[in-house]
Amino acid sequence: MIDVLENEKTFHLKTEHTSFILHIIESGHPVCLYWGRKVSGNGFSYIVKELKKASYLAWTDGRKDLRLEQYPLLYPVYGYPDLRNPAVHIRYENGSRITDLRYKGYRISKGKQKIPGLPAVTDPEADVLELILEDNVRHIECTLVFGVFGEYDAFTQSVILHNNGRNALTIEKIMSSCFSFLEDDLECVTLTGAWARECHLSRERLRQGTFRIDSRRGAGGHGQNPFLGLARPDCSQNNGGIYGMNLVYSGSFEASAEVDMHQNTRVMMGIQSFDFAWQLSPGESFYTPEAVLVYSDSGMNGMSHIFHRLYRERLMKNGWGSRPRPVVINNWEATYFDFDRDKLLALAKEAAEIGVEMFVLDDGWFGCRNSENESLGDWTENYEKLGGTLSGLADELERLGLKFGIWMEPEMVSPDSDLFREHPDWIIASPEYTPQLARNQYVLDLSKKCVRDYIVKAVSDILKNGKISYIKWDMNRNITDAFSQGGAAEHQQELHHRYILGLYDILEQLTGQFPDVLFEGCAGGGGRYDPGMLYYMPQIWASDDTDAIERLAIQQGTSLIYPAVSMSCHVSAVPNHQVGRTTSLKTRGITAMQGMLGYELDLTKCTDEEKQALAEQIAEYKSLRDLIGQGRMYRLETTGYAYAWMFVSEDKREAYISYVQVLTQPNTVPKRLRLVGLEEEGLYCLAGTDQIRTGSQWVHCGVGLPGGAADFCGRTWRLYIK
Ligand code: GLA
Repeated sequence: MIDVLENEKTFHLKTEHTSFILHIIESGHPVCLYWGRKVSGNGFSYIVKELKKASYLAWTDGRKDLRLEQYPLLYPVYGYPDLRNPAVHIRYENGSRITDLRYKGYRISKGKQKIPGLPAVTDPEADVLELILEDNVRHIECTLVFGVFGEYDAFTQSVILHNNGRNALTIEKIMSSCFSFLEDDLECVTLTGAWARECHLSRERLRQGTFRIDSRRGAGGHGQNPFLGLARPDCSQNNGGIYGMNLVYSGSFEASAEVDMHQNTRVMMGIQSFDFAWQLSPGESFYTPEAVLVYSDSGMNGMSHIFHRLYRERLMKNGWGSRPRPVVINNWEATYFDFDRDKLLALAKEAAEIGVEMFVLDDGWFGCRNSENESLGDWTENYEKLGGTLSGLADELERLGLKFGIWMEPEMVSPDSDLFREHPDWIIASPEYTPQLARNQYVLDLSKKCVRDYIVKAVSDILKNGKISYIKWDMNRNITDAFSQGGAAEHQQELHHRYILGLYDILEQLTGQFPDVLFEGCAGGGGRYDPGMLYYMPQIWASDDTDAIERLAIQQGTSLIYPAVSMSCHVSAVPNHQVGRTTSLKTRGITAMQGMLGYELDLTKCTDEEKQALAEQIAEYKSLRDLIGQGRMYRLETTGYAYAWMFVSEDKREAYISYVQVLTQPNTVPKRLRLVGLEEEGLYCLAGTDQIRTGSQWVHCGVGLPGGAADFCGRTWRLYIK
């Protein structure tokens, strides 16, 4: 809902529990008066009218009492006269970089749509406010678009810049979202890491200066997820206020929180501005991706619930947010490149017997690919290795009762490939230098239509006979040598963004043509785990690290924003291939059941006992699949070095609790694990026992934890109301 107080030019954006209040000050500059728990009442402009003036700041329009640099500006431009980080920076023909955006008008409409060329959260019930700003010297119009998702307690913000002038201009920076707080008592929460240890949660106090996370890699990357949280110091898993911003974008990005000289905080997020310059000709518009903005005063779990539900119901395309996901066997860690038809079928047979539903053939089935060094780009079956066609293999798998999925890495090309020999100019590379390799491959230039057409055709040719219902879409290197061969000089700094627009164009076509194919995103694990990819790829391989203990921190961090239904988690062999650690099958299963369960180990080497245990694990998972996929996921507070989490069904009649202790200690007395999210008066039975206790007992008195018998041991509980 959007209330407009015309007399004081205030816009009150309301969701069920939160308010976002914007206001236009006398000079025509928009400010952010308030964002947080829902407030009632009329008239909020006193918040800025009561600002006490600081010294040594520039005046505005000759008015000594109007020092813009102190205002909680909503979408500040460079140098006119605020000197903090601008949200937009434009260069004009005469070399000037000064822009002056002031209020022109507003529009309110119903129904939040997709953004041209970009994925977005959509909802026919959402309200949309467009605040139109204008520079009437340069004749540019800048529209700030706010989506208000009432029942989801979320907002989105994006920007459209339109050039109405007579000359082309260059956008050097354009943020999707920018807002300010008149305080700095906040802590930055981010998801950081590296390959094989993605999305570790980090938290640090803001201080004067700029806190910044970003990526210049052509993807969010393993190092920084496009998420920035601002938590109150007392924010815990279940209590306290936290603001979350997540960019619906899969390329290089930036996010920052700047604390100025007077303890105000300016936060912004958008496309990476380093090495970005977009030519905007007269009559053209530029659309930024959108940022999703969430506030919760129920701690980090409260924020996660908002993101999870919004993404399941309003982001994931083709209804995939609520579609059950198959239990897969993936042959990667079982065989790597070394397989033939017999090996694959032997693995598939074992998998079918224990209850697996989908066989995923990973890297190595195409061209002459027997290592990382060749054939990317040549998406034709290797008949010899496959012992026939993909379609023939699909038929055999079907006879075993398995569906079929394959791995592809369509954005890449190997130097040793027919595609590269034929089209050396299709890669991103500068003609003056030898192009750099990573994993012995180059990145295809998706800004070129001929390249996109090639990829769409290659993938659709494989999918069109309907035998393949799952694609693991990988992307195993980042962009260096950022130059588009044959492209005009003045458009070269558009390449990073055009690459992502090209990728979205490809995915829009493929997911439109094949709505029932489940696309799983992967970028050497979680190197591109973001809402932009989730729009097209409702499942993402969270990390190449399959060790159950390493996964605890990775999945804990990933779950801060991304729902369990999106998180692909596999049980692999021990000793683990990444870290050499040995954990029990039980603990590996418990950890993998934090998301969508799969397996990647050589089942033909398992003992009968292990196979029996695996079959039981899968049966248990199937009985929990809906609860894990669609329930509310809570991270529980633990003492000591342990992780615990819990899924509660929407009607609160059922709950599943998991606990994994990392290192055991001698002579300690196990404590109790307190639960959350249950109906206080409900009578919950503990499955497999005759214990019946009220929800309030389980929540406040908790469950008894097992004694620390060994490192890495895990335990689960199921509660239900009869
Ligand atoms: C990447 C993926 C792995 C596997 C290999 C195959 O590293 O993250 O899961 O698919 O590629 O080459």
